[in-house]
Amino acid sequence: MSADKTKDWNPGAYGRFRDLRLRPALDLMGAVRSVGGGDVIDLGCGSGAMGESLKARFVGHRLVGVDASPAMLEKAGESDAYDALDQADIGDWQSERCGLIFSNAALHWLGDHEALMPRLAGMLAPGGTLAVQMPRQNNAPSHRLWRQLASEYFPDRVDFEAGPGVMEPARYFHLLSGLGTFTLWESEYYQVLPAEEDAHPVRRFTESTYARPILEALDEGEQEKLIAAYEAVMEKAYPRGEDGTVLFPFRRMFFTLTV
Ligand SMILES: C[S@@+](CC[C@H](N)C(=O)[O-])C[C@H]1O[C@@H](n2cnc3c(N)ncnc32)[C@H](O)[C@@H]1O
Repeated sequence: MSADKTKDWNPGAYGRFRDLRLRPALDLMGAVRSVGGGDVIDLGCGSGAMGESLKARFVGHRLVGVDASPAMLEKAGESDAYDALDQADIGDWQSERCGLIFSNAALHWLGDHEALMPRLAGMLAPGGTLAVQMPRQNNAPSHRLWRQLASEYFPDRVDFEAGPGVMEPARYFHLLSGLGTFTLWESEYYQVLPAEEDAHPVRRFTESTYARPILEALDEGEQEKLIAAYEAVMEKAYPRGEDGTVLFPFRRMFFTLTV
């Protein structure tokens, strides 16, 4: 798993479900019980959806946003929340004595969590917290069927190893619980997606995130073929209500580590 540095994120497409995506981030922030005496880092800050909330909650700390995507950082810069915005790959990013490393829906895009998570923990000041939320949805139809259909139609075109993913929750426990006070939990959000005129709502939700690397590996005609097949199965997996809305359960894993 690694971020594809050749392709950029699309803040407009990602922001389409802003409120639904914000709620787990606010839940993660609400679980932070301790901050050390250093900067608050919004790691993988994206378009800065959490900037204002982090600034208001952790008054007196510098707020630094870190992200690899120029387009997302440009959007994050439109708010005054951040004291600094750093364009960096999290895999190479280094800091020290951080008060809080807050990472919402970003670290599943990086590989080798066995090395990454302890490395991030090592950047915390005493009393500092690493707070992480990552989707754990890869085996649900919404995500599994993008992979399954793409591998049936275009077996040699997509690098499925490069997609986002997480380890089993117990592995984070064994990896991190010896380093400080560790909490781990999972929530399934029953999201109601609004009706869409020209797409199944679950396709709209996943195409700018999970399915982005898969679709980017294909040409326009191939994308159309894959999308048509995906939409057909989504109609059964997540049926639309009479008003066109869809109930879309989405599982997310959270942990905090305070050193
Ligand atoms: C789903 S968005 C989440 C953004 C933000 N945390 C939020 O909650 O709205 C994931 C972000 O992670 C960033 N990202 C993914 N892999 C990265 C990497 N290796 N280094 C830095 N940023 C990365 C992407 O550029 C994107 O902005």
